[in-house]
Amino acid sequence: MIIIQSVSELKNYIKKTKISGKSIGFVPTMGALHQGHLSLVQRAVNENDNVVVSIFVNPTQFNNKEDLAKYPRTLERDAAMLQASGCDVIFCPEKENIYSENELTNTFEFDFGGLDKVMEGKFRPNHFNGVVQIVSKLFELVQPTRAYFGEKDFQQLAIIHRMNELLGFGVEIVDCPIVREPSGLAMSSRNERLSQNQRKVASNIYKILSENTNFAPEKSPHELVEIIECKINCINGLKVEYVEIADRQTLKTVNDWSKPSIVCVAVFCGDVRLIDNMKIEKFL
Ligand code: PAJ
Repeated sequence: MIIIQSVSELKNYIKKTKISGKSIGFVPTMGALHQGHLSLVQRAVNENDNVVVSIFVNPTQFNNKEDLAKYPRTLERDAAMLQASGCDVIFCPEKENIYSENELTNTFEFDFGGLDKVMEGKFRPNHFNGVVQIVSKLFELVQPTRAYFGEKDFQQLAIIHRMNELLGFGVEIVDCPIVREPSGLAMSSRNERLSQNQRKVASNIYKILSENTNFAPEKSPHELVEIIECKINCINGLKVEYVEIADRQTLKTVNDWSKPSIVCVAVFCGDVRLIDNMKIEKFL
């Protein structure tokens, strides 16, 4: 495994790999890796000749400076985990190598077709502009055959699919299922900031979602949202930011059960903001 910081070195590596006709699997991350990330890497290793993992805490997708400053940075530990999982290249640029001053200060424009107006986009203004800015830049550099993203960030995944189509990258986007702790808590780099007790408290999010997403036609989506919100807020230490039942394609709020839908939540456990989701399985 090699660790590459410079853009020109990465370009050389990609050029050589492409000339030799090898497929490239790509897993973009912000580091502080856990089994959720590694499940994407493992899949990429199984399905491609070479695997590139990027580790870059992308400043333009943080709408909160404190959140950016607190984001865990654990490159040495990450590198050891990636080495063991069969990754070929870690690309970990500095922000100055990847962005111009203008790009760092101006909002990246993209036609989201409304996908950025709901849920995470509503509560984290311009977050997805930064995500598309960095992922499109990384796709241009890495030119992957396949790229792997987690359903943990369901809205991000929907936006990446749109970006791939609209910007014509022709990358095969591989959707990967959520990896959870044995307690059900969705793995996240932010879980590092939870105390042992808070982790137990936070596992109620999964419990409540799984107990309430068995399709019940007598309840409307709106009623189900209220039930889930109320149950989460009843747990001492949890505070809902939003609960949404959305169309899996458009991410618009659903008013009936005619479309495949998904429940998405953002919940504060102390000052740590957690997101999770679960498909409502009537239509599979
Ligand atoms: P990050 O939060 O590091 O996540 C990297 C990838 O790992 C994303 O595709 C995310 O959905 C996936 N992932 C995280 N936790 C997971 C879990 N418990 N189960 C399955 N997959 C999981 O998402 C980002 O970084 C950034 O926005 C990025 C795409 C790298 C752009 O900066």
